[in-house]
Amino acid sequence: MALDRKPTPNDLNAFWMPFTANRQFKKNPRMFVAAKDMHYTTSDGRQVLDGTAGLWCCNAGHCRPKIVEAIQKQAAELDYAPAFQMGHPVAFELANRIIDIAPKGIEHVFYTNSGSESVETALKLAIAYHRARGEGTRTRLIGRERGYHGVNFGGISVGGIVNNRKFFGTLLAGVDHLPHTHLPHLNAFTKGQPEHGATLADDLERIVALHGAETIAAVIVEPMAGSTGVLMPPKGYLEKLRAITRKHGILLIFDEVITGFGRLGSAFAAQHFDVLPDMMTTAKGLTNGVIPMGAVLTTAEVHDAFMQGPEHMIELFHGYTYSGNPIAAACGIATLEVYKEEGLFERARELEGYWQEAIHSLRGLPHVIDIRNMGLIGAVELEGIPGEPTKRAFSAFLKAYEKGILIRTTGDIIAMSPPLIISKGEIDQLIGTLGDVLKTLE
Ligand SMILES: Cc1ncc(COP(=O)(O)O)c(C=O)c1O
Repeated sequence: MALDRKPTPNDLNAFWMPFTANRQFKKNPRMFVAAKDMHYTTSDGRQVLDGTAGLWCCNAGHCRPKIVEAIQKQAAELDYAPAFQMGHPVAFELANRIIDIAPKGIEHVFYTNSGSESVETALKLAIAYHRARGEGTRTRLIGRERGYHGVNFGGISVGGIVNNRKFFGTLLAGVDHLPHTHLPHLNAFTKGQPEHGATLADDLERIVALHGAETIAAVIVEPMAGSTGVLMPPKGYLEKLRAITRKHGILLIFDEVITGFGRLGSAFAAQHFDVLPDMMTTAKGLTNGVIPMGAVLTTAEVHDAFMQGPEHMIELFHGYTYSGNPIAAACGIATLEVYKEEGLFERARELEGYWQEAIHSLRGLPHVIDIRNMGLIGAVELEGIPGEPTKRAFSAFLKAYEKGILIRTTGDIIAMSPPLIISKGEIDQLIGTLGDVLKTLE
């Protein structure tokens, strides 16, 4: 029986949409019904240029034949295998391929199904790692203001976004936060890494002095904070964090859910900034956003700490029904092949200069108070309407959609992160259209 897929469903009530203004949406729905390469097709038949790679995830663009075929083939061959105490070759193959492109020193892969689960996994691993080594007092977790680490309890506890935290009770105990690094009064309109702010990493010494290093398990940061508005690490900041964490025996976790898989022009931000964390959390671009999958990548030191005790015993009491799911893993392999065959990480690096000049050409337009960029990511920060935060940027988002481009907004910041296959002409279209939108904003 053919599935009845109407371009617009007749009732929008049942689906409670995530991170969405549900009532606004349902009065005036925005529906995508198809996608190809750089474009979405809307239910009213318009083409919309994808300026955000979906939600920072479709780095190779949409409906790529190699990925589609890999999923179809795997679904017909081995649809599911138990993730616990059983294996299947595809998950092992993908793990090896991830390690091939990971920074030297990263050697193991633990599969999850999303960025949020990768974060929870890494935080649990950090605490359990210290315990396995006889340092069970190290349970504290340190995040950062304006950090986004997904929506589960660990992630919102170490995260630093008030609306993601304040509705949800007491969160995890034993969490502290570093200050954020967004310093527009010093760094506005910086191209690439800002000059000012490295010393903010020294705040970790204050937290250590307050609690004692022997109580702290890990520090988690996004090497470049995406969801709170594309905040680049100041020059020297990540290096300082690494030095201080190492000095005190604290694990450093990079949340690379956005920066992983080419966004900054290297496979991972850890390589881009040449700073090696103990663990990296990934998802999104791992499967081009096509099938949900995440992975935590660890050093041998972290992994090996667990490999003790009787061999018939489970070493880590953690995992998901869908960890390393065959179809997701096949999708991951095909995705990594597309990245490699098309040289997409190098492409992001090569296009960075063009992207940078294009986005900074918006300086001087109404309400624009900052522009920042790196790799194929960029943000335009608007002055908010007094008393009505987020309204101006949301209005830009709606107008942009009407004019055929997809952008993303967070607060009054417009963020863009196009698929790495974008052409120079499409960059011109994206930025040119955004410029037209900005000129019409109230
Ligand atoms: C840095 C970071 N961590 C975690 C997440 C959560 O990922 P997911 O939505 O797949 O749970 C995101 C999502 O945007 C992210 O940007």
